[in-house]
Amino acid sequence: MLAQKIFVTGGSRGIGLAIVETLLGQGHSVASFSRSVTTELQALNDKYPETLLITQGDLTDADTSTAALNRFIATFNGLDSLILNGASPGPVKRMADVTLSEFTEVYAANVLSILPLYHAALPSLRTSKGRLIALSSGASENAFEASGPYAGTKAAVNRIIQVLGHEEPDVTFIAVNPGLVKTDMSAAVLAGSAHAMKPETHEHIKAAFAAGMALPPAVPAEAIAALALRAPKVLSGRYITSFGPEAKALLEG
Ligand SMILES: NC(=O)c1ccc[n+]([C@@H]2O[C@H](COP(=O)([O-])OP(=O)(O)OC[C@H]3O[C@@H](n4cnc5c(N)ncnc54)[C@H](OP(=O)(O)O)[C@@H]3O)[C@@H](O)[C@H]2O)c1
Repeated sequence: MLAQKIFVTGGSRGIGLAIVETLLGQGHSVASFSRSVTTELQALNDKYPETLLITQGDLTDADTSTAALNRFIATFNGLDSLILNGASPGPVKRMADVTLSEFTEVYAANVLSILPLYHAALPSLRTSKGRLIALSSGASENAFEASGPYAGTKAAVNRIIQVLGHEEPDVTFIAVNPGLVKTDMSAAVLAGSAHAMKPETHEHIKAAFAAGMALPPAVPAEAIAALALRAPKVLSGRYITSFGPEAKALLEG
């Protein structure tokens, strides 16, 4: 396969870092955009100085995020895929206790940040007949206590992707749920949710972790990278899982 050009948000840790590492290892040119540069991301930069472009910035700052994307497009002469992975877990609280400022912050990071990046990417994605892959979550379809702000943002992602699938015939849009993955985000949700969830809900999540059901980030990353590189148009607008038949077919194909 020819080397592709992929911009990833939230590449400093967790699933995003694993996606960046997977794509670099396959010979592609990659950008990571996040607020911090971790030692793991820096190590990738040392290993792949020619094909990794790191920019530090906040997704809620549209000028910085679009400048990073435009710089990547100019440096590598195009864009094949945009992976919207970076997100905030938001406040792990019951809606009665969520403040307007907390609610605004999680929507700014997880939903409002999509539009400026989409506008900046679209001309290049139309040219390359590329793909936009947005990280969704099981929380977008399953309701449990203390997930209101975050779950709402992920449900919004699903519907925006569905609409885009209708609007842009030359670009493929997919919302992908990675499953339960062992990262800072899932650890923070588990640690912070005991007081806000029903004991049985919290125990259920704790038991899943204890049973080793939380996947290492490299597992969904491999499937998400495959979707970004070669998802067929027929999937456009869909919400799928990274462990489901569509991703499996791509990994095996
Ligand atoms: N882990 C799971 O079980 C799970 C399950 C379902 C869905 N997901 C989804 O998968 C994606 C990745 O999650 P993860 O578990 O890997 O999370 P994570 O370990 O917390 O990593 C989140 C990434 O997003 C970046 N980020 C967060 N807020 C940002 C902001 N305002 N501006 C720029 N970058 C920002 C972080 O970088 P900085 O902090 O350096 O900015 C980091 O690189 C998310 O969309 C999440 O909703 C995860």
